Amino acid sequence: MEHEQTLSPTPQKRVFIKTYGCQMNVYDSDRMADALAPHGYAPTGDIAQADLVLLNTCHIREKASEKVFSELGRLKELQGERRALGGDMMIGVAGCVAQAEGEEIARRAPVVDLVFGPQAYHRLPDMLQRAEGQRHLHPALKRAVVDTDFPEEDKFAHLPAAKKDVTVARGLTAFLTVQEGCDKFCSFCVVPYTRGAEVSRPVHQVLDEARRLVEAGVKEITLLGQNVNAYHGVDAAGRSVGLGELAYLLAEMSGLERLRYTTSHPRDMDDALIAAHRDLPLLMPYLHLPVQSGSDRILKMMNRKHTGADYRALIERIKTARPDMALSGDFIVGFPGETDQDFEDTLAIIRDVGYASAYSFKYSTRPGTPGANLGDQVAEEVKTERLYRLQELVTNQTNDFHASCVGRTLPVLIERLGRMPGQVGGRSPYLQAVHLEGSADLIGSIQMVEIIGTSTNSLVGRLALAAAA
Ligand code: SAH
Ligand code: SF4
Ligand code: F3S
Repeated sequence: MEHEQTLSPTPQKRVFIKTYGCQMNVYDSDRMADALAPHGYAPTGDIAQADLVLLNTCHIREKASEKVFSELGRLKELQGERRALGGDMMIGVAGCVAQAEGEEIARRAPVVDLVFGPQAYHRLPDMLQRAEGQRHLHPALKRAVVDTDFPEEDKFAHLPAAKKDVTVARGLTAFLTVQEGCDKFCSFCVVPYTRGAEVSRPVHQVLDEARRLVEAGVKEITLLGQNVNAYHGVDAAGRSVGLGELAYLLAEMSGLERLRYTTSHPRDMDDALIAAHRDLPLLMPYLHLPVQSGSDRILKMMNRKHTGADYRALIERIKTARPDMALSGDFIVGFPGETDQDFEDTLAIIRDVGYASAYSFKYSTRPGTPGANLGDQVAEEVKTERLYRLQELVTNQTNDFHASCVGRTLPVLIERLGRMPGQVGGRSPYLQAVHLEGSADLIGSIQMVEIIGTSTNSLVGRLALAAAA
């Protein structure tokens, strides 16, 4: 996933932010833009105009990390061209690669002026000033400003909020990070090292930010966390509030129409959260609940701390509370020691659960994780073949799920103009893209839409006027 930010430029300095990785990075990129705004930086979508380029990076798999270094190679050329014309361009690396590799990035890519981890974003203006202070120095004397601390202070309390017009321009749906970091230490995963220990934002901070979003016209909020259902923020009385209870509090906010959250861990799906799915119509019936493998032996080696049977039982409980719940998952194929039978167990759990969508990856050895020390690596061609078979199964399930929606009438949040004139587009409760004939004044409303067909990765519908009246 790559996202490039596009907001209107100002006559002052311009920042181009390129985002890799998960939704939390998408959220963070916006927050970095918000932190820079009071210091005269406006976002641009045109890298050629940028005085500052920030790469917000992802370390989750080897390929994701390597992308950063090839991008830095390209940026070096661009910077050279700018300098030849008497201009300049500063380059910063943020995100999880920055956190994991720190100084090493500056050594490997001297073109970089700034390297800073996710917990330092509120210090960005200060770091930038320090880096700018070195601009007059001979290149050999310059040193990248590096900040990969996990500071004591609350980053979120120090990050400025977006201006209302900026939030309006960002659209009808918004991300809101409520929790960061992870204490689970799955043996394959870098997140506990790049994002640090689990921290939840206090309830009042989350509600204030949600209110600002809704006041700027946001209709749908997705609560984010590396382990979002481990959320345990304190409320004004000093009580610990879980994600389920937080959902009930947000459900009372008038103007907020839809609520989602991601990514959840099966072990943190507690009764209160499941009850929220039963009770709260605004909580959308689409849940990303990764299981990674269907083999108990592999789950144990992955340190997931649950079995396939635990996961199946959990899905049953969730579906009892919310029968139309659609599920999404993540799967890793070729974890060290994965046999044909282990892989068949993964296919079996996918068949039994039935996913509306799923993401799947070949196991990628990450330095510093316990998985990196395991022997018995699975051959690359075996991983390739398993991934292919898994994705074929999941694609069929996704297509079946889309097809099962034909003939149903679903509430669709109309978010934008469609590709064709006279069309609008939005999302179903199950996060499917829906296209239909309709005018621009529908944008921002939830309409009852009869699903009349499917097209690649989306649904085709028509306004069910009688139902909407
Ligand atoms: N917190 C989430 C996942 C975050 S990482 C959870 O626990 O489910 C997103 C996904 O990347 C993971 O679910 C996993 O499927 C995949 N992933 C993480 N580390 C990986 C690795 N070393 N190799 C391949 N895939 C990996
Ligand atoms: Fe990584 Fe596991 Fe934490 Fe998810 S729960 S972020 S996979 S360590
Ligand atoms: Fe990647 Fe960091 Fe997210 S490693 S998946 S950007 S938490």
